[in-house]
Amino acid sequence: PDPERDRLLQAYEWSAKFYHYLLKNTEHGTAAMEYLRSRNFSDQMIDKFQIGYAPDRWDTLLQFLEKRNFDLGEMEKGGLLSARSEGKGYVDRFRGRIIFPIANRTGKVIAFAGRILGEGQPKYLNSPDSKLFNKSRILYNLHQSKASIRKTRQIVLFEGYGDVISAWEAGVHNGVATMGTSLTDGHVALLKSLADEIVLSYDGDRAGQAAAMKAIGLLEANELQVKVALLPSGLDPDEFVSRYGGDRFREQVIESAVSPVKFKLIYLKKNHILLEEDGKIAYVKEALEVIATLHSSTEREVYLREIASELELSYDSLKQDCNLLRASMQ
Ligand code: CTP
Ligand code: MN
Ligand code: MN
Ligand code: MN
Ligand code: MN
Repeated sequence: PDPERDRLLQAYEWSAKFYHYLLKNTEHGTAAMEYLRSRNFSDQMIDKFQIGYAPDRWDTLLQFLEKRNFDLGEMEKGGLLSARSEGKGYVDRFRGRIIFPIANRTGKVIAFAGRILGEGQPKYLNSPDSKLFNKSRILYNLHQSKASIRKTRQIVLFEGYGDVISAWEAGVHNGVATMGTSLTDGHVALLKSLADEIVLSYDGDRAGQAAAMKAIGLLEANELQVKVALLPSGLDPDEFVSRYGGDRFREQVIESAVSPVKFKLIYLKKNHILLEEDGKIAYVKEALEVIATLHSSTEREVYLREIASELELSYDSLKQDCNLLRASMQ
């Protein structure tokens, strides 16, 4: 038993309800609500994910917690309040931000992520690691997705809150987010304990694609099957849903996810100008290094034939180079 932990859980539960109420039912939440609407967050999703709003004032939550006799020092350690920069006392940590409650796998709120309305830095302000929260071990939305994960043994892995929420509305109910692009060993162990297959659905920008390249290796090293969802360059899953709709997202992005090798080939290709001999040769060299690692000769043939026809090369010479490379890799 840990009474301090229990008090912090109680504080987070009530604070989440409070911020959700302020968003939906008070004038404080009007601008935030408009912002959420402009991003196509529906009422159902706002409820389902208990999205809230922390007004742009110093003491909204402070007073709420004080009235309920919480120890303010404890609340500061837990990440709901901040120590005043001058003098003593406390102020609200989250001010003028949309609140995304982060729950543990049993559904108890253990941290908040606060998004600024529109542009500004930092875009997201999170609760610090605490007695309850360790960012490198928590997957956002696991409590709501675990039922679907248990049935499908598959997890769709996103970067962010909006991605998980838009995907949910599109019917993808086995989505979780790493809350950024760093996939830790803790995350991988958790994923491995719940599923056999991971569909990587990181952002379609450079950072997201580079992170996906890295994540593939980490997941495969832990004997998870991996597929990679492809997005038009620059879009993240949430933006794709807003632009093209949930049906297209499900069918053309998630259900059409490709093999890691296919993804790697596409990723490597982007760095070369294939119309020039040098570019073509450099790309083929990198591609062969990926294909040569495949154990199945059928799989190697499939990809080699694709490259042969795309680059107008003979399958035989590609196969020969690939086999040479394999021999040198033994
Ligand atoms: N993140 C964070 N702190 C930041 C930036 C990002 O914790 N300053 C985490 C958040 O969990 C965020 C995820 O990394 O959801 C992905 O980052 P990014 O793609 O930049 O944000 P989006 O989720 O796309 O945010 P939005 O759609 O609201 O712009
Ligand atoms: Mn949406
Ligand atoms: Mn991103
Ligand atoms: Mn994003
Ligand atoms: Mn986004």
